Amino acid sequence: MSSWPCSWPLVLLLVLLCMVARESNGASTNVKVGSISKVEDAVNFHIYYGQTFKVIKNAVDGKSYLLIQNTSRMAVRTKYCTSRIKSYVIPLINYSVDTQSSPGGVPVSFFELLGLLGTLKGITSDAVASPCLLKLFEAGKVVKLEKGEQQEQLLSQFAAHFISDTDQPQTCNFANFFPLSEGTPLQRAEWIKFLGAFTNLETKANQVYGAVKASYTCLSQMAANKTKSFKPIVAWIEYDKNGGVWCFTKDPHKLKFVEDAGGENIDKSINKVSYNVSDPDDLEALHAILCTVDAVIDETPSSDPQSYTQTTFLENINVDDNSCFAFLSNQSIWRYDKRVRNGTILDWYDGAISQPNLVLADIIEALFPTGNYTTSYLRNIAKGEGVININPDMCDRDASLPLDPTIPACG
Ligand SMILES: *[C@@H]1O[C@H](CO)[C@@H](O)[C@H](O)[C@H]1NC(C)=O
Ligand SMILES: *[C@@H]1O[C@H](CO)[C@@H](O)[C@H](O)[C@H]1NC(C)=O
Ligand SMILES: *[C@@H]1O[C@H](CO)[C@@H](O)[C@H](O)[C@H]1NC(C)=O
Ligand SMILES: *[C@@H]1O[C@H](CO)[C@@H](O)[C@H](O)[C@H]1NC(C)=O
Ligand SMILES: *[C@@H]1O[C@H](CO)[C@@H](O)[C@H](O)[C@H]1NC(C)=O
Ligand SMILES: *[C@@H]1O[C@H](CO)[C@@H](O)[C@H](O)[C@H]1NC(C)=O
Ligand SMILES: *[C@@H]1O[C@H](CO)[C@@H](O)[C@H](O)[C@H]1NC(C)=O
Repeated sequence: MSSWPCSWPLVLLLVLLCMVARESNGASTNVKVGSISKVEDAVNFHIYYGQTFKVIKNAVDGKSYLLIQNTSRMAVRTKYCTSRIKSYVIPLINYSVDTQSSPGGVPVSFFELLGLLGTLKGITSDAVASPCLLKLFEAGKVVKLEKGEQQEQLLSQFAAHFISDTDQPQTCNFANFFPLSEGTPLQRAEWIKFLGAFTNLETKANQVYGAVKASYTCLSQMAANKTKSFKPIVAWIEYDKNGGVWCFTKDPHKLKFVEDAGGENIDKSINKVSYNVSDPDDLEALHAILCTVDAVIDETPSSDPQSYTQTTFLENINVDDNSCFAFLSNQSIWRYDKRVRNGTILDWYDGAISQPNLVLADIIEALFPTGNYTTSYLRNIAKGEGVININPDMCDRDASLPLDPTIPACG
């Protein structure tokens, strides 16, 4: 218990522990918590273990989640819903997920890796990128609870409702599952342990995260071995059609992907935020920077990804003379909309978050092409690669069984 954070209000903790101790004293069956998860990389949640309960301290909403084993006497008697504590009976008998908040809502791929789609009973939107969830939805196993007067009441019937948009009004069963609150790809992936705690699937969660992390680490070492005297320079850029401006993206996890793939991000000294293509000076400066870049990842949103091609990109950067661009002569212009549902729902905001090793493998292939690796999330528009349309028929397993993480060849 020495690792309780100092920020924890001590009095609250003592009260909680006393109540838990009193309630579990004399409980007929004490569940043996056979395995535990230890959070190694993520910073926004911690898990603490008692005999018949667990506590998740969630930095996203500042609350402590008391997870009470269904076999303990406390489970029927105790219900917390205060400004600092919420309680849930575990393992969750059923649950629902907010799939609506943009972009992408709660990434359901985490639940799939644990084999939890069988107890998922409600979603707030069917705009999801998971083939197996689409299949369950089509079969009527999962219902859509749309926004409206009834929604809150309907959602409150589940043992937990997972959300990622913390600004919405929350009832007692809401749980903030927010991998995107973390700064690095692996920290995000480790949130699988958060769900493992709700379902007594710690062993599975540890296995999956262990495999993803080992794969990521190996790929990153492999990429480091490939690096020559000069690392390839990469730019994540995005065009805002309405404003007519290009921006270089500086999201920490994206920069981290490039570093771990053996590349280099465009110079930190370039800190101008946006470049207006209607302004000749801006345009010239933008072209000059792009001439230093070896690979471009174009993040520009599109309502029709299939028709977003290299031509679209070149029109948007407004060039007549292509001669200086290495990413053109070397054919390296990428987008992360390869896997897409119905034009706009990208698996980039779902599967790519729980399996960042696949994203890393994609970027390594972009920077050090072997021609021998099929990317998962990125497509090269300089080579005319199109999109893969996600549909329910692509679910090729029993949807209630765990999805095996994909481990690319390494070494
Ligand atoms: C507790 O949960 C397990 C797993 O879902 C279930 O098999 C068992 O019947 C539950 N026990 C009680 C007392 O609800
Ligand atoms: C979910 O479980 C609760 C008991 O915790 C039950 O009352 C409710 O009917 C279940 N809902 C669905 C849709 O299975
Ligand atoms: C990287 O290079 C080192 C030293 O040459 C080697 O031992 C290691 O196996 C390589 N790692 C990978 C993943 O290729
Ligand atoms: C870009 O420049 C054009 C022409 O100078 C101007 O009309 C437009 O408002 C500018 N856009 C932005 C977002 O500043
Ligand atoms: C272009 O690709 C070739 C072969 O992959 C490589 O040797 C060269 O360094 C690349 N040039 C640039 C500017 O990236
Ligand atoms: C796809 O999107 C369009 C436009 O948003 C919508 O009308 C249509 O119902 C969607 N189709 C499916 C299968 O979700
Ligand atoms: C392509 O990949 C396969 C399987 O990973 C490997 O056996 C083969 O040697 C690779 N070929 C090249 C040219 O890298």
